[in-house]
Amino acid sequence: MTARRPHVLLSVAMSIDGHIDDTAPERLLLSNPADLDRVDQLRADSDAVLIGAGTLRSDNPRLLVNSEQRQAERRAAGLPGQPLRIVLTGGGDLDPELRLWQYGDGRAKLVYSPDAAVARLTARLAGLAEVVGTGAGLDLGAVLDDLGVRGVRRLMVEGGGAVHTLFLTSGLVDEIRLAVAPFFVGADEAPRFVNAGRFPQDALHRMELVGTDAVGDVALLHYRVPEKQDEKREQPAADRLTEDDRRRLALAVELSRQCPASETAYSVGAVVVADDGTELARGYSRETDATVHAEESALAKIDPADPRLRTATLYTTLEPCSRRASRPTPCAQLALAAGIPRVVLAWREPALFVADCQGIELLEQAGVTVLECPELAEEARAVNAHLW
Ligand SMILES: NC(=O)c1ccc[n+]([C@@H]2O[C@H](COP(=O)([O-])OP(=O)(O)OC[C@H]3O[C@@H](n4cnc5c(N)ncnc54)[C@H](OP(=O)(O)O)[C@@H]3O)[C@@H](O)[C@H]2O)c1
Repeated sequence: MTARRPHVLLSVAMSIDGHIDDTAPERLLLSNPADLDRVDQLRADSDAVLIGAGTLRSDNPRLLVNSEQRQAERRAAGLPGQPLRIVLTGGGDLDPELRLWQYGDGRAKLVYSPDAAVARLTARLAGLAEVVGTGAGLDLGAVLDDLGVRGVRRLMVEGGGAVHTLFLTSGLVDEIRLAVAPFFVGADEAPRFVNAGRFPQDALHRMELVGTDAVGDVALLHYRVPEKQDEKREQPAADRLTEDDRRRLALAVELSRQCPASETAYSVGAVVVADDGTELARGYSRETDATVHAEESALAKIDPADPRLRTATLYTTLEPCSRRASRPTPCAQLALAAGIPRVVLAWREPALFVADCQGIELLEQAGVTVLECPELAEEARAVNAHLW
């Protein structure tokens, strides 16, 4: 695809303690009227405005430029009165009754989803929005390429936390406009500006503060993100399976055969390998105690300060868990905490012990490249055949 990708502006309002909402059903008002007017101008200056399906479901926004004068100025400049409105979804659970669909014609709204959800969504949103598939997963690069082809030059990303995290960890944000409201939310469960992740803008890669402003009682911080850091995600070797990957994953399957038998837990094998091919550790389920998981067992053998973790690959025969009863931290979070950028797995977790494992989603939302190797899925499952 040769069209230029749009400039991406991420706009967000948060409390002093980093929350973008509280836990009440109604949306928390963080901005003041002057700040909302500033955001209206940003929308009017954008070709497209994007949110995640979580925000669509929880806030039911219209996502419109409110000022009639700004709409008129857009029209006078040969633009539609409203920018294109875009929703990202993974599963495609979007209610056609929501307010966003009710204004303007269907061509003014786009939904990006994995290919698997396209047919169902297209039927559901017929006449309300155009649905575009991005391949096997929700691929942000494909979204931006498609928007470039459609002539979108300036994209405003308006949340929520999962979408902020996805854009930032993918290195696809050019600037951030962060409004800080003068109060605390103080609830751990309240949504945050970003979720845990591996951000290219870390302590060694600071963003540039290009402006600060007071908008009434709201502090406005304007950051430029120095360079797009998505190159590492686009390197062919990071994004596709190699023969070496298959070999390492086959080793993980062999390790899974060593697991002490259990009727209530999977037998899984895991290997962690540095990017120069050095094996850092291996592990399997119940290796060191009755509840330890394979990934956990392998990661526990590596010094968390080992810099090779930041470029390593975790091979595991089963999708890392996102919830577990036996320990406080699930394996997807352990992999994130270790800073591992790439996970190769054989088999998605079936709905046997946990109804809906979100390990892959958690990792991908944090910017980790997750690759599946379907040709080893049956072997990984066969080791667990006794569970059915
Ligand atoms: N203060 C602010 O500036 C601001 C702005 C916006 C929102 N918010 C708040 O943010 C909260 C919502 O945030 P949120 O994190 O729950 O939702 P979100 O970021 O708006 O949307 C998350 C959804 O996007 C899809 N998605 C994101 N990454 C994906 C991936 N890698 N693969 C597949 N699908 C992916 C999924 O949709 P499916 O579930 O459909 O698969 C996911 O559930 C609300 O409380 C809202 O009020 C605050």
